[in-house]
Amino acid sequence: MKRDFLTITDFSADEVRENLQLAIEVKEKTKRGESPNVLRGGVGALIFHKASLRTRCSFEVGFRQLGGSAIYITDKEIELGKRESVYDVAKVMSRYFSAICIRTFSHEQVEELARHSTVPVVNMLTDLLHPCQIMADMMTAFEHKKRLDNLTVAYLGDGNNITNSWLRMAQRIPMDLRIGTAQDCLPNMQIVEETKKVGISEVSIHHDPVAAVKDADVIYTDVWASMGQKDKAEEKARALKAFQINGQLVGKAKKDCIVMHCLPAERGREITDEVMDGPHSVVFDEAENRLHAQKAILIKLLG
Ligand code: CP
Ligand code: NVA
Repeated sequence: MKRDFLTITDFSADEVRENLQLAIEVKEKTKRGESPNVLRGGVGALIFHKASLRTRCSFEVGFRQLGGSAIYITDKEIELGKRESVYDVAKVMSRYFSAICIRTFSHEQVEELARHSTVPVVNMLTDLLHPCQIMADMMTAFEHKKRLDNLTVAYLGDGNNITNSWLRMAQRIPMDLRIGTAQDCLPNMQIVEETKKVGISEVSIHHDPVAAVKDADVIYTDVWASMGQKDKAEEKARALKAFQINGQLVGKAKKDCIVMHCLPAERGREITDEVMDGPHSVVFDEAENRLHAQKAILIKLLG
């Protein structure tokens, strides 16, 4: 049966671990110039209803390096549910493509697309989740901290698709996940409850940024206003001012902590230049690892 990757929890805990291990192997092979012909000419559809640098480029490069190719499709070609139904789009595209990868607003539409498609569907970001990013981030944390389990991860900023995906990762890999945010910027509380119920990780929400980052191994942030919410940018900036990742706050975490950001960053807002370009920052490793982590996901779904 075909598998999809719409959320981290589409993989079991063992599969998440295996896939992260595979991503590390894929990275080593890529560095040696080896490109296994796993996709044998298969073509991926890359549907984008929002902007992208990393996701588009890393998926296009990934498909090519695995012996396939990809086509970039925008809302000029596909307006899901407007020009034609999600069902019809799923049926038609399944006849051409080896996989359908999509970045859009509504997570429910992506679920619907996956239900009706006969080829794997990969979530390249919805308003709710960004699972490919968090697989690359977990891989990056592993490379730097030399372990996967029981890291203290402090996510500071807006409770968004990245936060929700960290919560889903915490349902698969044990961690102490602390979310530092304002009362009006909470993540999806249903996912918070779900994560607590799974019970393998500690999950806490803090309104004091110092309490959130105390002794953290990983400090993570993201833009305060996500795509589709830019009209709320000033409101969010006021609410989240205290959660900026700056040198002083990094000083409260472990001495060898790493600082992560999925990018794009609004430098000077959620993170200072000093931290982005400083010794704790691994933001460009994360960006690179998007390529390797996604190749591992494609190998699992299509290999
Ligand atoms: N981190 C990330 O998904 O970047 P893009 O929006 O540029 O794809
Ligand atoms: N939360 C951000 C992530 C961008 C990669 C957004 O959805 O815009």
